[in-house]
Amino acid sequence: MQTAKRLERIQPSFIRDILSAASESNILSLAGGLPASDHFPLALMANPMAQLAHDPTLFQYGETQGYGPLLSHLKEHYSISEMHRMLICSGSQQGLDLIARAFLNPGEGVAMEAPGYPGALQVFALSGGMIHSVAQNVNGPDIAMLETLFASKKVKMFYAVPDFHNPTGVSWTLEIRQKVATLCRQYDIALVEDAPYRELRFTGDHLPMVSSFCPERALVLRSFSKIATPGIRLGMLSAPAQWLSALLKVKQAADLHSGVPMQSLLLSLLSNPEFPSYIKRLCQCYGERYQALANALESYLGGAFEFASVQGGMFIWLRIPGGDPLDIAKRALSKGVAVVPGNAFYHDDFLPSEAALRLNFSHACPSTLREAVRRLATLLV
Ligand SMILES: Cc1ncc(COP(=O)(O)O)c(C=O)c1O
Repeated sequence: MQTAKRLERIQPSFIRDILSAASESNILSLAGGLPASDHFPLALMANPMAQLAHDPTLFQYGETQGYGPLLSHLKEHYSISEMHRMLICSGSQQGLDLIARAFLNPGEGVAMEAPGYPGALQVFALSGGMIHSVAQNVNGPDIAMLETLFASKKVKMFYAVPDFHNPTGVSWTLEIRQKVATLCRQYDIALVEDAPYRELRFTGDHLPMVSSFCPERALVLRSFSKIATPGIRLGMLSAPAQWLSALLKVKQAADLHSGVPMQSLLLSLLSNPEFPSYIKRLCQCYGERYQALANALESYLGGAFEFASVQGGMFIWLRIPGGDPLDIAKRALSKGVAVVPGNAFYHDDFLPSEAALRLNFSHACPSTLREAVRRLATLLV
């Protein structure tokens, strides 16, 4: 059978190919965006997990919007805007897909930073949206370029990852957050704020969400993959009340609702009094792993390979002075290291101004990170 035409717009995933090679036992992987499995909060989840077996009501069909007690908890926990309604989705990735399917007609414009999250590139390409790339600077998107784009093209929404961006780790400054919200208002553009890494800050000051400056036009995606576990596949979408019914229609068509037992388990975890100190320890662990990777890059690679320091999240964006990142990533595999080439994070219309590799520091322990960089250095220096 012939595949649907829209699938032709989806590029093969570099990351998937590299990740499948990365799972081989002799490969040290800096490639995936995997949280630290040795830090999963399984001890905090063990009791509630055992309790699930005693509550058959949780195993019945549930509400499309989500499990009521979880929704109430999240409303309070995240101080959700009075204008907004929430929807539990099967990972924030599904939330993104619901947004694209509910609001983006083929050919309508969606702006996003370049480089950008490949999962978003895929969703927007699949929905038939027209992707417009905006260069990213150290403080966030290039504001002049963003305004020109908003003024000159038919852009319906701006997709953004303002906290510890994937792949660059960049966190937008307060000034950029306010400017972007102002531009979205001025040009009547919806803001899609994707915040899966927001809680993973290990240094620096907490900044307000961009959506807090323009809640009336913001769709906000939260993920529980990085603070609970990815395997439970839960995320949350909040949006102005008048947009919820469109999202609910698509959610219903997609999978009726996200799994209720996992939502109940997540509620138990988030409301456990030990949870805040668990997150603190997790951030501390990521801070140590980041430092181990940064130190190894400095000592093995030297000044020719630059990277900006990050204050949280999971990634370092390593700029390489020459060579094709894809070729380097392939050759790195033969040295026993998996990394993701920067090419994987660009839409076709955007010519990258720099060659880079994305390196993950959340998954491997400090000694593994160091050894991986030592191996990488044998290829690069
Ligand atoms: C920027 C960004 N958004 C969304 C996701 C998807 O997260 P989830 O596991 O909640 O579907 C990821 C996953 O790594 C991501 O990096």
